[in-house]
Amino acid sequence: MIILSIDTSCDDTCIAILKIKNKKIKILSNIISSQIDIHRKYGGVYPSLAKREHEKNLVPVLKQALQGAKKKEKFKKPDLIAVTIGPGLEPCLWVGLNFAKSLSFMWDIHLIPVNHIEGHILANFISITKKIKFPMLALIVSGGHTQLILMKKIKDYEIIGETRDDAVGECFDKTARILGLAYPGGPSIEEQIKKYPTSVPKFQIKLPRPMMYSKDYDFSFSGLKTAVLYDYKKRNKKIRTSKKYISEMAKEIQQSIIDVLIKKTIKVAKDYKVKTVILGGGVAANQELKKQFKKTIKKKIPKCFFSVPDPKSCTDNAAMIGIAGYFNKNKALKNPQKIKVNSNLRI
Ligand code: KG4
Ligand code: ZN
Repeated sequence: MIILSIDTSCDDTCIAILKIKNKKIKILSNIISSQIDIHRKYGGVYPSLAKREHEKNLVPVLKQALQGAKKKEKFKKPDLIAVTIGPGLEPCLWVGLNFAKSLSFMWDIHLIPVNHIEGHILANFISITKKIKFPMLALIVSGGHTQLILMKKIKDYEIIGETRDDAVGECFDKTARILGLAYPGGPSIEEQIKKYPTSVPKFQIKLPRPMMYSKDYDFSFSGLKTAVLYDYKKRNKKIRTSKKYISEMAKEIQQSIIDVLIKKTIKVAKDYKVKTVILGGGVAANQELKKQFKKTIKKKIPKCFFSVPDPKSCTDNAAMIGIAGYFNKNKALKNPQKIKVNSNLRI
């Protein structure tokens, strides 16, 4: 079976082609056309520009995806199309959905509506399906979401906890912007720490770990952003623009986020006696987060299996939408005209 998948939920135009045979998934192509350079000057995604760029990019990205896949596999047309219908930026989602509807009509094949968050979860299922045991806990950390999702079996999702305000990725993006670092903030903060290591802290920056010890499983990251702003403002210009201060602050931002995410995830994992913990979403591409998660899980819940997709599969891509489409192929529609987008779609 050949599945063509499309994601235009945010600022990347993504098309992938997967081959699925005997339950084995092979990625034939996975094209991502990034708009980062366009949105960088606004310090975040500008929805009307993102929509325009998707409109420009979809045809060349499709061409590239088909050409790449056909070099690896002979096929005339895909058997199914999977497309993200939410959550995401509404104008951007409509561009992807309408493109998918046209292809479905032209090729006379069924269309599967996909939830983007389910895609981030199932990005883990490319290669490790056998090792995954239920109940499983997924921590989804992206630009728009921070959710702890319990899975008793495949496709059985229950949101156990989530952020009450900013998402983790949003927190990385906003705090990076305060420090004058480029969008997207997560990779900029990670790079800053690597480039200018601060083994001996000079400025004694201590940020809060919001809601780390609260009894529920929710998160809150807006206070962290405010704390960064206060510290930044109280320093004189020479200090706050120095590489040393920015690196030390970047390290403390990253660590306070890591501390909260690990503490809450382990709490849910223990309370619900989960056998697998997986991460997904753009923030899961953070190497330090992965390293510290691995170490803490090994120490605190050693019987638990832990998985994170490779960094390229953590950030937005269409291969994950194809995988989610495959798991939801029973939802495929022959006449997809009724399918609508839902920018606030819940899992
Ligand atoms: O999942 P994603 O690609 O798009 C959404 O669905 O939102 O996530 C994007 C978010 C951005 O906020 C970005 O700053 C963050 O993921 N991110 C990272 C890293 N790479 C991307 N955060 C921390 N460390 C990274 N290496
Ligand atoms: Zn995403």
